[in-house]
Amino acid sequence: MTRREPAARDERDRTDRSDGAGHDRRDDPAWDASAYDDTHSFVYEYGESLLEDLSPNPDERILDLGCGTGHLTNGIAERGADVVGLDRSAEMIETARSTYPSLSFVRADATEFDPGDPRLAGDEPFDAVFSNAALHWIDDPEQDAALQSVRDALRPGGRFVAELGGAGNVETIANALETALAERGYDVDRPWYFPSFGDYAPRLESHGFEVRVARLFDRPTDLEEGDDGLRNWIEMFAGDFFEGVADDEREAILEAVEDACRPDLFREEPGTWIADYRRLRFAAVAVEDDGDR
Ligand code: BEZ
Repeated sequence: MTRREPAARDERDRTDRSDGAGHDRRDDPAWDASAYDDTHSFVYEYGESLLEDLSPNPDERILDLGCGTGHLTNGIAERGADVVGLDRSAEMIETARSTYPSLSFVRADATEFDPGDPRLAGDEPFDAVFSNAALHWIDDPEQDAALQSVRDALRPGGRFVAELGGAGNVETIANALETALAERGYDVDRPWYFPSFGDYAPRLESHGFEVRVARLFDRPTDLEEGDDGLRNWIEMFAGDFFEGVADDEREAILEAVEDACRPDLFREEPGTWIADYRRLRFAAVAVEDDGDR
């Protein structure tokens, strides 16, 4: 995110919206793992139902891609599978290891992990890859590398079961952030990738998957902490928008975002912000490699 010089604004918009010092959380995934667990536990709580879609079998080898603090990794282990959690955030991995010391967690990047990495423990490919609320942090151009890594990690017939933010996810919040920042001369790139069904299914197919089920759906999500819920959500998940923003402008921007979102996203009784989440959930199967890809 950069502050635009007024004279450069139009030129920049026409020529390049992606270079700016666009801070990408993936470059510096400094997550606050305890706030994530304490105040935003809905992320993994909603993921519990994705475990039903995965339906792990005892003795299957399963990779949890973007495992965060490891709660769903543990859910997979409780169903008897042999699971490894992978995340690129050191803090998430540290928290996952201390919460679940008997489980295996590896710090690695979803776009370039090596399925043969000895830390993934095993010469056999995985039977399934699971991913909850992680794939949307991977930029559009890097999605192909991530999907290929997942395909390479799976045996033919292996399952890829995942949920990510879908097209239109948190649109009201993102629009309000963009508007409030633009009014103060800041030019922002959204730090997330929220694909439609039509974007993602062909992408999966081009990496050797057959898409068995895919569903785009609204999931209005209650945020904790009452009136502070929206600004706390922004701090946890949209901090990238504020890279380079002067400290003394921050509060005014947050207030402008709250004002813009309040009519649609705040319920006066009982005083709760409701984020306009939309999810894309899918189950795909790795097809036999015919050597043409
Ligand atoms: C999500 O899980 O949908 C999400 C995560 C971070 C930012 C925005 C949305």
